[in-house]
Parts: sequence; structure tokens; C-alpha cells
Amino acid sequence: EITLAYEVIEVRTEADKVGVITLNRPKQLNALNSQLMDELGDALKAFDADEKIGCIIITGSEKAFAAGADITAMAKFSFADAYKGDFITRNWETIRTIRKPVIAAVSGFALGGGCELAMMCDFIIAADNAKFGQPEIKLGVIPGAGGTQRLPRAVGKAKAMDLALTGRMMDAQEAERSGLVSRVVPLDKLMEETLGAALQISDFSQIAVMAAKESVNRAFEGTLADGVMFERRLFHSLFATSDQKEGMDAFVNKRKAVFTHQ
Ligand code: CAA
Repeated sequence: EITLAYEVIEVRTEADKVGVITLNRPKQLNALNSQLMDELGDALKAFDADEKIGCIIITGSEKAFAAGADITAMAKFSFADAYKGDFITRNWETIRTIRKPVIAAVSGFALGGGCELAMMCDFIIAADNAKFGQPEIKLGVIPGAGGTQRLPRAVGKAKAMDLALTGRMMDAQEAERSGLVSRVVPLDKLMEETLGAALQISDFSQIAVMAAKESVNRAFEGTLADGVMFERRLFHSLFATSDQKEGMDAFVNKRKAVFTHQ
């Protein structure tokens, strides 16, 4: 259930099964402030709780997915403001509690907190004009929403160090080559392509989709042996669902599966 009146995001559904959230502070290139992160968290939770929604997309404008945390909002912060106010984690990590898949559709700048927000999504589809970076070093700080942790996991140490230490941007091609983004598409095809993926996911068993997300995420948390065991147990548990019977029966009988998410 939506509990806030949204001012800096726009929310819509597509085909009654995909939730689309558009960041909308155009004058600030979608710089992320507390209000925006509150609204984003609220919309994500509402879509996550909506049985009809099978996948969520977060996107920005052509020019900017998000140009980072709002620098004007934090420019005068003291250590006490940042620490006591739990700056960033308080409302930035709601997205990590979302159990349905969240795809970032990125065009233009995804910098600092914008890059970190995209990395908190389950995967990133980028337009060919996308630019990623962690320029916080230029401001006398470092990434504060997971950039130094998720970027090396995505692109390896060398490139993560290069980006975090020089503050340079990488373009969509480099981001795809290095594993940060799953697909690069022409700018005018970004929403079509992302929506295509989201609709596809929404038609699968929601239970299997959530289990797949949970299991892939587990790969970044513990040991390989634990991860493999976690996956196996989840895999076994899916044989308790109607969707497994339906999916396999449909294959055997050469028909299209219709999942009921049970
Ligand atoms: N915070 C607040 N305002 C921002 C912003 C940000 N992160 N990024 C852009 N804006 C504002 C600009 O101040 C400008 O406002 P005015 O029109 O009022 O002057 C407006 O958006 C348009 O920006 P530019 O005129 O700079 O546009 P450009 O095309 O010349 O440059 C850009 C685009 C390269 C993205 C440049 O705006 C830029 O470098 N932005 C800052 C990027 C950055 O440092 N991000 C990291 C923030 S720190 C962080 O994110 C911490 C963390 O880990 C969570």
C-alpha cells in the first residue's frame, strides 16, 4: 500500500504485472536526497507487497539515472550529523529488503550514490549513453552506499580501484565488458528492452523467481559450499509448489506453462 504522496518519483504499472518507478528530480539530475529515498522505499515496498506485480523497474531520465547523493544537502554535514542521522543507511537500504526482482534501466549518469543504487538492483540494463562512476574522491569523501564493496564484486579489484581512486567515469561498453551491466541497448530501446525482460520474469513462477534471486544473492555472502547447499535446499523446496508441477507438465506436453504463483 502506497503511504506517501510522491513528489520526486513517478510510479506506474505496465500490463498490471510490472511496477515502474521513475526518479524525477530533473533539475538536480535526480540527485538522491532523503525525500527521494523515502519515496523510492515506499513505492518499492508497495510493489513488493502487491501480488499481481512480478518485477520492478527503477529508471531515471535520458540525461541521468541519478548523479549521486545530493551534494547540497550534505555539504554542511558534521560527522555527528552523518553518524547520528545514520546518513545513507537509514533509508537507502530498503531496496535490499525487496524480494521480487528489481531491474535498473540506466541512461545517462549513474554516479556515486546513483551507481550504488543501480548496483543494489538485481541487474542493470544500460542505454548506450550510460556513464558509471564513483566520483566521491573528488569531493573529499569515499562512496558511502556500498560502492567500494559492490563495485569490486561486479568488476574486480583493478577497475574498482581505478574508478574509486581517480573518480573517472566508464561508458556503457566498458561497463558491459567488465560485468557491471547485463545488456547495453540503444537509448531509444531502453524501456522496451527492460520492460521485455520484466514481463518475461513476471510470467514465471513468483516463488521460483524469488528463490532464484535469494540464491544468487547468497553467492556474495558466504562460502561456495554453503551457497551450493543453500541453493540445493531451495531447489528441493520448489518441488512443493504447484508451479513446479505446472512448469514441468507443460514442458512434457509441449504447451505453454501458466503459473499461478502457488
Ligand atoms: N547533488 C546535487 N546537485 C547535483 C548533483 C548532485 N550529486 N549532480 C548534479 N547536480 C545539479 C547541479 O548542481 C546542477 O544544478 P544547477 O543547475 O542548479 O547548477 C544541475 O544538477 C545540473 O548539473 P550540471 O550543470 O553539473 O550538469 P553537467 O551536464 O555539466 O554535469 C555531472 C553533469 C557530470 C553529472 C555533474 O553534475 C556532476 O559531476 N555531478 C556530481 C556527481 C557526483 O559527484 N556524485 C557523487 C555524489 S556523493 C555520493 O553519491 C555519496 C555516496 O556514495 C552516497
